[in-house]
Amino acid sequence: MANAATMGGPARFSRWQIRLHWLTLLLVAIAYGAIEAKGLVPKGAPARDLLKLVHFNAGALVGALMLLRLGLRACEFFAAQVHESS
Ligand code: HEM
Repeated sequence: MANAATMGGPARFSRWQIRLHWLTLLLVAIAYGAIEAKGLVPKGAPARDLLKLVHFNAGALVGALMLLRLGLRACEFFAAQVHESS
């Protein structure tokens, strides 16, 4: 598919930013799917606890990835500022 990078223009996001974006989406889907699936499992079944654990961990990873992505974005921003001013 044509985008700024394939058309010879500057790429707005790095490969890692794009990967982390899709990984975040995947983890949100896992967190949501796990907690919804938990509702389908009878109370007291071990699978309920497992699904809850999957939900917490996927959700916590989303939070961690958000911080990492913000850090990456800040680094790219400041690198661009230094590049512009030199
Ligand atoms: C991408 C991040 C997350 C999404 C999209 C998300 C979404 C949801 C949804 C849709 C529910 C069901 C609400 C309901 O209908 O009762 C839920 C329940 C819950 N979530 Fe999350 N959540 C996320 C992250 C987290 C994290 C990081 C924690 C804690 C570490 C957490 C703790 C809980 C708890 C304790 C419940 C209630 C579970 C139960 O019914 O026993 N969530 N969440």
